[in-house]
Amino acid sequence: MQSSTLAIPEITKTPRHVAMIMDGNGRWANQRFLPRVAGHSKGLETVRTMVEECVNHGVEYLTLFAFSSENWRRPPDEVNFLMNLFFKALNKEVARLHANNIRLRVIGNLSGFTPEMQERIAIAEKLTANNTDLVLTIAANYGGRWDILQATQKAFAANPDVAIEDMNEEWLSPYLSMSYAPEPDLFIRTGGEQRVSNFLLWQLAYTEMYFTDTFWPDFDAIAFEKSLEWFQRRERRFGQTGLQILEKTIVRNA
Ligand code: IPE
Ligand code: IPE
Ligand code: MG
Repeated sequence: MQSSTLAIPEITKTPRHVAMIMDGNGRWANQRFLPRVAGHSKGLETVRTMVEECVNHGVEYLTLFAFSSENWRRPPDEVNFLMNLFFKALNKEVARLHANNIRLRVIGNLSGFTPEMQERIAIAEKLTANNTDLVLTIAANYGGRWDILQATQKAFAANPDVAIEDMNEEWLSPYLSMSYAPEPDLFIRTGGEQRVSNFLLWQLAYTEMYFTDTFWPDFDAIAFEKSLEWFQRRERRFGQTGLQILEKTIVRNA
């Protein structure tokens, strides 16, 4: 993983990596006098659309927050529904992902899932492992704090004699769950809340944050394009001054 705090990443017009918090399913359903879970089912359609749109726009990595480590606090019926939906989606959608040259990865504390689910995940990841058009990452039973802690534990296990001064980013980052991807360029949260809710805490250090009131089931290709246009208007400085960025642009275009 290229680190935005160690080196300034290449700035591209289209984000290489988009990370999304798919929020607002329950309120979308409430608005229609439907049970909350109807919003989750509808939300799956938006997932399909976003996968297609990312491929169309040349995004290389799409990461979706599907279930947080804190979502277990929801009523058991809703948790069960979400687990079933995820399981069914894994069975049903993977062939299509594979046919479209999309690689699927799942990050999070997978030990929280049933053995059947863990097996489905492993099969899907293996099947799609050599696909190159898009890397679709689903964050499930994921928490940003869990990620940093599990990485620390793994880094220690791999190198128990590490000197304190060697416990740096390079030591830790290979063990973070998204070490295979560049850090997200664009973060999108639907549903109106402006918070990170324990998503990719480490990886969002220099990510552009886009918040929209649109509920996830209503988020569509046009709404996504709006976020991409917004992204293009950002000046990503990574700690430098605006003048330095301008100078670089002039040199590049000369
Ligand atoms: C996001 O929608 C989906 C998950 C957390 C799985 P919500 O279910 O949080 O919907 P709201 O925020 O209650 O509307
Ligand atoms: C974040 O949404 C988690 C997912 C979308 C999976 P939540 O709806 O759980 O977040 P909070 O509770 O409003 O912060
Ligand atoms: Mg929510």
